Amino acid sequence: MDLAGKKIVLGLTGGIACYKAAELTRALGKAGASVQVVMTQAATQFITPVTMQALSGKPVYADQWDARIANNMAHIDLSRDADAIVIAPCSTDFISKLVHGACDDLLSTLCIARPAHLPLLVAPAMNVEMWQNPATQRNVAQLQADGIALLGPDTGAQACGENGMGRMLEPEQLLEQIIASFQPKILAGKHVLLTAGPTFEPIDPVRGITNLSSGKMGYAIARAARQAGAIVTLISGPTALDAPFGVQRIEVQTAQQMHDAVLEQLTGQDVFIAVAAVADWRVANASAQKLKKDDDDGAPVLEFAQNPDILATVAALPKRPYCVGFAAESENLLQYGEQKRQRKNIPLLVGNIGHHTFGKDDNELVLFDALGHTLLPRNDKQALARQLIAVIASRLPH
Ligand code: CTP
Repeated sequence: MDLAGKKIVLGLTGGIACYKAAELTRALGKAGASVQVVMTQAATQFITPVTMQALSGKPVYADQWDARIANNMAHIDLSRDADAIVIAPCSTDFISKLVHGACDDLLSTLCIARPAHLPLLVAPAMNVEMWQNPATQRNVAQLQADGIALLGPDTGAQACGENGMGRMLEPEQLLEQIIASFQPKILAGKHVLLTAGPTFEPIDPVRGITNLSSGKMGYAIARAARQAGAIVTLISGPTALDAPFGVQRIEVQTAQQMHDAVLEQLTGQDVFIAVAAVADWRVANASAQKLKKDDDDGAPVLEFAQNPDILATVAALPKRPYCVGFAAESENLLQYGEQKRQRKNIPLLVGNIGHHTFGKDDNELVLFDALGHTLLPRNDKQALARQLIAVIASRLPH
């Protein structure tokens, strides 16, 4: 669980987006966090403390003079063992209060009284004109200068019927950003390019050859790289997965398309991670029309041509990024893995232990480099992805 053991104070201010805060509370809980909800009086006009209490499993605080805290200092106590304060939704008015250091309700006082190291993240939610107003923009700039993290806002249809910037991010996008805020920014400013998923080589317009890769490992690495601060481009074969938040995804089908997309995106990349299960061969005599089974020739005879080796092509370039390959062997992993690393001429190769990893949520890896091999014991793919990103980050020039 991405937020296991984390304690989050979730502040709600007045805005129709309060309904999304209900879902965010559940999502935070599912990710392992414990959530302490604090509401302004305006927020209670949009959603009741009863709802938020039921979802968070904890009494909600909305009043500075709440007598339930023994020393009557809710504004101090609530933030002392927290790992982050998240204000979602954050109204125009509350942004202004944060900027000016107002202390006229529990939530604003709690924010001012937070320990200096405690992260404060705000998710603005307001009408487009309110967002664009120079006063708001001035305040938002000051907020960021004060080290407060801004989550969104997004653009799109608004509850008031207008359209534009100011929509609060969706709960799952907020969750993703909150998780990312806890990750060390070990790849800040680095550009990372990945391939992931299977490829699909057509036989005719409705049939083709593919493999069992689900894309989960590659997508988990893309997500981990983004959470570590990288600018991430993911070239993906056909998968059922959503693009990780903040990752640019380019969708392709064939190995040739994947190869072309990689070369197109390569300029300026610091790291290239080839996770895709690329088909080694394509059907050379693919039919432009659907093959019919009652054709006179009987069963079709497929001819194969070799696909380009994307990783080997990139690794052979004179100004190559730091290259990482993957290997799925069915036997002799330790021997074949190191041989493959040397053959592909790359500094790091990741071996899947066993070839039954396709589609699973966990995995077990061996890393091969010039010094030997290291085991990353069985874990879920996201945790392994973070470990791999940490290893890659440690190998890059600073
Ligand atoms: N790869 C690639 N382009 C290909 C084939 C593979 O970029 N046409 C990359 C994969 O993404 C992976 C690595 O090369 O990172 C190893 O792929 P694999 O198919 O296991 O290795 P091969 O060199 O094809 O060797 P073999 O199939 O004989 O095991």
